[in-house]
Amino acid sequence: FVPEIMSQAKVFVTRRLPTELQQLQEIADVEVWMERQPPPYEVLLAKTKEIDGLLCLLTDQIDRQLIEAATSIKVISQMAVGYDNIDILSATARRIPIGHTPGVLTDATADLTWALLMAAARRVVEADRFTRGGEWRTWEPDLLLGPNVTGATLGIVGFGRIGQAVARRAKGFETRIIYTSKHRCEPELEESLGVEFASFERLLQESDFVTIHTPLTADTHHLFSEPQFALMKQSAILINTARGTIVEPNALYQALSNGQIAGAAIDVTEPEPIPTDSPLLSLDNLIITPHIGSASRQTRKKMADMAIENLIAGLKGERLPYCVNP
Ligand code: DGY
Repeated sequence: FVPEIMSQAKVFVTRRLPTELQQLQEIADVEVWMERQPPPYEVLLAKTKEIDGLLCLLTDQIDRQLIEAATSIKVISQMAVGYDNIDILSATARRIPIGHTPGVLTDATADLTWALLMAAARRVVEADRFTRGGEWRTWEPDLLLGPNVTGATLGIVGFGRIGQAVARRAKGFETRIIYTSKHRCEPELEESLGVEFASFERLLQESDFVTIHTPLTADTHHLFSEPQFALMKQSAILINTARGTIVEPNALYQALSNGQIAGAAIDVTEPEPIPTDSPLLSLDNLIITPHIGSASRQTRKKMADMAIENLIAGLKGERLPYCVNP
């Protein structure tokens, strides 16, 4: 038995999802945007005026205008843990629950963080370019040298689920781990992870690798700019798998090209995608990947399933299992 109200519910899904939609289709008319590019803002705005539920991605701008136009909407469910593309205050004021997908992408993102850290330290991408470019002529004592990862000091900025998962993976590398965070962890957790709390400034000064795991908020917008790069070691490597806008791109370019820091590996940029004429693309000591932190098959399926679970709960008027608003 499908209640009348449910069979009439209209849902817009802003991209093809890596999972089955059957459960959702049983209770709603589902329209999926089939293009590879996200729906243009005007299309999204027009759609949201006539739907009960929206399943969106971090590439969709869910701003105040759109939320105020969405008069029949009961739920917005985002397939991502981050939700800086959504105006949460406006949604909360209109009592629209916002869903997200915490937890399921922690491991995949921590894995990519380590992949980037190792690749930047040992210059894997440069080495591949070197080999394919026909430059490998002999074994050389000083060819493509990088710093040791084992025994290094790892600085983790933001110590939530992903920051902690990065710390857990550091064990085998015998790293010293310092972290900075809005809230200091319980001493038991610090001890079990083998981490030490530090001020942001001290972390920048002492770390060989600095990795960013904070959400993007007004406080973390351009958290890394000229003064922060000036505090870092010249041998330091910066990793960012969080949000591009946490790092000011011109300051990053200056720091990398002036040798203020040794290298960086970033999965996120400001803006996204990175413009093809960005000077950052000319740097050999920078690795850039296209926002693939959560891109394992299993993880993306779990994220899609979780987003559908949130959406269905919202359509039914139930509390979302993974809700952003208070
Ligand atoms: C997120 O979920 O916020 C990531 O950036 C994409 O998986």
